[in-house]
Amino acid sequence: MVDDALISGIDISYTYPDGTKGFNRLTVHVKKGEKVALIGPNGCGKSTLMMVLAGLLKPETGRVLIEGRDMHSNIDSIRRRIGFVFQDPDVFLFNPSVEDELRYSLVQLEMDVSEMDMLVNEFSKVFNLENILHKPPFRLSGGEKKRVEVASVLIYNPDIIFLDEPTSNVDGKTRRKIIETLETYNGTLILSTHELEIAEKIADRIILMDQEKRMVLDGGLETLENRSFLEEIGVI
Ligand SMILES: Nc1ncnc2c1ncn2[C@@H]1O[C@H](COP(=O)(O)OP(=O)(O)OP(=O)(O)O)[C@@H](O)[C@H]1O
Ligand SMILES: [Mg+2]
Repeated sequence: MVDDALISGIDISYTYPDGTKGFNRLTVHVKKGEKVALIGPNGCGKSTLMMVLAGLLKPETGRVLIEGRDMHSNIDSIRRRIGFVFQDPDVFLFNPSVEDELRYSLVQLEMDVSEMDMLVNEFSKVFNLENILHKPPFRLSGGEKKRVEVASVLIYNPDIIFLDEPTSNVDGKTRRKIIETLETYNGTLILSTHELEIAEKIADRIILMDQEKRMVLDGGLETLENRSFLEEIGVI
């Protein structure tokens, strides 16, 4: 193990119940405050890897550690520290209204009502949700759902945020708002994206995965300059 890692996945793999490999035997250490972008072609295992590192799926081989301790032995206390923006917002949105969705985690954290009202107000403005606060999330457009999902996670400022394609489906203005908010976030961030520009703006470390569902490169932002390699593995 690496002493200063916040989250470690050691020799982990995951196979879905139907026998499909999610990803294959990989080891990754993420330090506190790091901003990591996972990049790779469709189906290379980014979403699966994020779910395993966040403790949402149990690895088939290997171990996931948080601050050196097994993630699954004290998952309840860890869950509060982790925010997860799913690629498909329908997995996440379950409250009767957008406003309830925004309040949900704040209520779980037993936040003071006036502080909660202030945050809901601020995030509804930033993410342009004021006109849809009373709508049920399932009656929203794809981009609106994504906006609600991202806002509902950022609003409670978790220590560690996983964002799976946070800007898919959203318009340019929303994309800018999401980037601006993430640029000022000082926790640990693990993101997957097909938009290299987003990775460049938000991340300081790039992990590339390939069709074989392996990690093929782990480096700084200069990784994104290797256009021929990115083309070879199907990213551009
Ligand atoms: N629920 C599931 N059941 C069975 N196989 C799955 C399931 N979800 C994903 N897979 C398979 O696992 C592999 C990894 O999928 P994953 O969703 O992690 O890829 P990804 O890199 O996130 O792709 P994308 O860029 O399209 O989001 C793929 O081969 C995919 O078909
Ligand atoms: Mg995915």
